[in-house]
Amino acid sequence: MSQHFLHGLEFDKTAILKLLDLAKALKANPKDFNQALRGLSIVTLFEKPSLRTRLSFDIGINKLGGHAVYLDQQNGAMGSRESVKDFALNISTWADGIVARVNQHSTLTTLAEHASVPVVNSLCNLYHPCQALADFLTLQEVHGDVSQLKLAYLGEGNNVTHSLMLLAATLGTDFVAVCPKGASPDAQIVKQAEQIAAINNAHVQVSDRVEAAAGADVLYADTWVSMGDTSSIDEVKQKYMPYQLNQTLLEQTGASTVLHCQPAHREFEITSQLMDGPAAKIIQQAENRMHAQNALLITLLNPDFI
Ligand code: CP
Ligand code: NVA
Repeated sequence: MSQHFLHGLEFDKTAILKLLDLAKALKANPKDFNQALRGLSIVTLFEKPSLRTRLSFDIGINKLGGHAVYLDQQNGAMGSRESVKDFALNISTWADGIVARVNQHSTLTTLAEHASVPVVNSLCNLYHPCQALADFLTLQEVHGDVSQLKLAYLGEGNNVTHSLMLLAATLGTDFVAVCPKGASPDAQIVKQAEQIAAINNAHVQVSDRVEAAAGADVLYADTWVSMGDTSSIDEVKQKYMPYQLNQTLLEQTGASTVLHCQPAHREFEITSQLMDGPAAKIIQQAENRMHAQNALLITLLNPDFI
């Protein structure tokens, strides 16, 4: 049976640390890996827009000697022209892996149920696990041992929050989600993260008070308006402005690192001063999408190469 990567918890702490080590090796010595996916074709399906994910997978697969085929919604939304099951059955006959960015997590579980090749979640309504891998790769590069860190996420509780929280819990990083009332992360996922964190001597906290970010080493923001949300960024400004990442918050918390998964709305969830300042590791974080995903693809598609 194929191993999938749908919520990220398919990999335990040991496997994640191994994967992040592989990502660092790939980044340091890309030539050693330029045949790692030789002869393998990977279909990347997108129901939503993307810059980083689409390009980092496509270019990344190419750098490993593999072949990426991009499929958008030119034939209509997945499941409209033909069923998601039939997508999975057909693609599995030609391709060696599927990377999918979908609206609903259930589309991924249906793909995985019927595909005979690995399925990777490249964002859905509930999770963004490839993003979290790149985030923790970046934190390891900047801080070393991530189990000594406190990470504060500010803004809307969403897919990025969930994956970040689950990976923080797995790796023993203290995590606080600071979100306005009515925008908290999913309660079930928080409970799951708390249970994992307890095993790894870490804490998971959810608060609507910015003071909860005190003592954080890392501040993290995502957009205040996720794809598919029809609110304009201006509409949500009132609600979220107290949660903005800015110089005052950086000084109040004492944090030394700032992350943002991007796309960013400058002067909304993060000021340009912070985004372009020395604490920001945001472009390094974006670069690491490719290295983390390449490590994941080798692990899933060609583990014998490692
Ligand atoms: N962070 C991220 O997933 O960016 P894209 O939406 O551009 O892929
Ligand atoms: N929460 C955002 C993440 C974008 C990378 C969204 O789902 O649109």
